[in-house]
Amino acid sequence: MAHPDAEINFVKAAAKENILYMPALFATRTIEEIAAEKAEGQVTFQQLYLSAENDTETEELIRRTEESGAKAIVFTVDSAADGNRHRAARYDVGSADSSYSSFTWEYYDKLVKMTKLPVILKGIGSLADAELAAKHNVPAIILSNHGGRQLDGAPTSLEVAIEIHQKNRDLFTKMEIFADGGVRYGSDVLKLLALGVKAVGLGRPFMYANIYGQEGGERLIQQLKKEIALDAGNLGCPDLRKINEDFVDWTPKQCVN
Ligand SMILES: Cc1cc2nc3c(=O)[nH]c(=O)nc-3n(C[C@H](O)[C@H](O)[C@H](O)COP(=O)(O)O)c2cc1C
Ligand SMILES: *[C@@H]1O[C@H](CO)[C@@H](O)[C@H](O)[C@H]1NC(C)=O
Repeated sequence: MAHPDAEINFVKAAAKENILYMPALFATRTIEEIAAEKAEGQVTFQQLYLSAENDTETEELIRRTEESGAKAIVFTVDSAADGNRHRAARYDVGSADSSYSSFTWEYYDKLVKMTKLPVILKGIGSLADAELAAKHNVPAIILSNHGGRQLDGAPTSLEVAIEIHQKNRDLFTKMEIFADGGVRYGSDVLKLLALGVKAVGLGRPFMYANIYGQEGGERLIQQLKKEIALDAGNLGCPDLRKINEDFVDWTPKQCVN
């Protein structure tokens, strides 16, 4: 949407700035085209949409993902139906994943046996589902409401992370919990990390930055790194590995007139 070189700019910018890139299955460029541009030793995860009804298609996607050298599969589970997107409709922009899909935990258990790669779940939106993921030995989950593009009113990843923190904070140590959606400033990153989130993702900011190509992607990462460092400094946290829940006051405050 933003640049003729599309995702090639992202894989290169991620390598240059040493961050993880997760290309989407429905990217402009194919899994193979993006993988071919990876730097020596560069780690990527591959996002996939799967169909529970067609194992042949799933096996084919898993084979392509494994051959691309991706280190994990990111299985998106939060778009069971096409999203109602009124503004997109006005501009006649469709959704990449427009078919209905339905998954069960039994399907997840079957899926992990089809690949040697870890299968991460993207789009967990409640404490209950995070607990079920841990029960099914999911190595990592991404708290996400798909950038608010699927269901109006779906909780943000920050709200779900707070719910996990309040009711079952041990979950943050039982598996890796990542989060995305609305992460724009260094302080957004720090709040999530303080709760126990291990990594955060950004979607739209990279799409906008790509108007300036690879350079735009690099600039975005540099700017965010700088913001994280400055905000961590002001927070009194000189070592990000030591950030923890005590750095933020999570108690709900009463409104006083
Ligand atoms: C244009 C666009 C396309 C997206 N396509 C996918 C997709 O194919 N698969 C997926 O798992 N998420 C997709 N997402 C959601 C992102 O992966 C991510 O969860 C979201 O953008 C994070 O929120 P943010 O944009 O506020 O950072 C898409 C988001 C946007 C804006
Ligand atoms: C399942 O996927 C394969 C590979 O993409 C395709 O050839 C086949 O037609 C699909 N089967 C059904 C029933 O849709």
